[in-house]
Amino acid sequence: MSGSGEAELLHTFKGIPFTTRSSPELLKSLDTFDAREDDVLLVSYPKSGTHWLAGVITKLYNTQVTVTSPIELGDISQLEELNKLSLKRIIPTHLDYNMLPPNFKNKKCKMIYISRNPKDTAVSMFHYYRDNPNLPTVDSWTAFFDLFLKGNVVCGSWFDHFLSWEEHEDEKNILFLFYEDMKKDLPKVVKEITLFLNLNVSDDDIQDICKKSSFSEMKNDTEKENSDPSHTVCALTSNRKLIFRKGAVGDWKNYFTPKQNIRFQEIFNEKMKLSKM
Ligand code: A3P
Repeated sequence: MSGSGEAELLHTFKGIPFTTRSSPELLKSLDTFDAREDDVLLVSYPKSGTHWLAGVITKLYNTQVTVTSPIELGDISQLEELNKLSLKRIIPTHLDYNMLPPNFKNKKCKMIYISRNPKDTAVSMFHYYRDNPNLPTVDSWTAFFDLFLKGNVVCGSWFDHFLSWEEHEDEKNILFLFYEDMKKDLPKVVKEITLFLNLNVSDDDIQDICKKSSFSEMKNDTEKENSDPSHTVCALTSNRKLIFRKGAVGDWKNYFTPKQNIRFQEIFNEKMKLSKM
């Protein structure tokens, strides 16, 4: 990794790299954040399909809900803003389970965790590093690949993030989703979400929502809209135009060398040996 501004772009809190868009004061205050029973958390490691899922979920409600900015984004005043919101809150976050405000856990708020093949996540994140001025410069895919495997990237290790959440997979208030399942059969996953959130949505409406949530529709919508910082569901950018890149499964095959693939697989097998994945 290079780039003169690198030192100012990231800082580490509890061993995890954050961008300076998440202030240390805000991160410290998360422990005392007041959750509401009807909050819904939308949780992901970056580049796992957060915007896609947020787009689907907002279309499922026929009452008014707010998709807030990510809970870890901003300075301490941001938490006060979240407290002031009167509508039901859908709160996105890239936080590791251990960093999540305890109040969400105590109140058993509903949480949806979306995950994606870490190889595709790595490639998507590589492009995000290249395009997003809030992230340090990376010289090459090879350099980024090493950083990703070491967890020296924003939000830390993919493995640690996934495992911290997977440990709670059986809790009734947590729903685990996979990007690849959404690609394969979106209506089926959307149905699962409606059951989890206790929402009554007809099959016709689900079909319609899925059409409106396709990669091309969402990309087109974003290109038409002005970049509104309050619309971000990712703590790493307020520019939604950076999000809709390719939207494919298996793009990693265009980047990983055979040697990189073997190394990734070895580390994956070692780190995930206790995982059900
Ligand atoms: P790629 O970079 O591989 O294209 P996040 O929202 O967590 O930042 O994830 C971004 C990734 O989700 C990007 O992956 C983006 O293209 C993909 N994505 C966003 N909307 C999508 C959609 N409607 N269908 C499929 N993929 C989508």
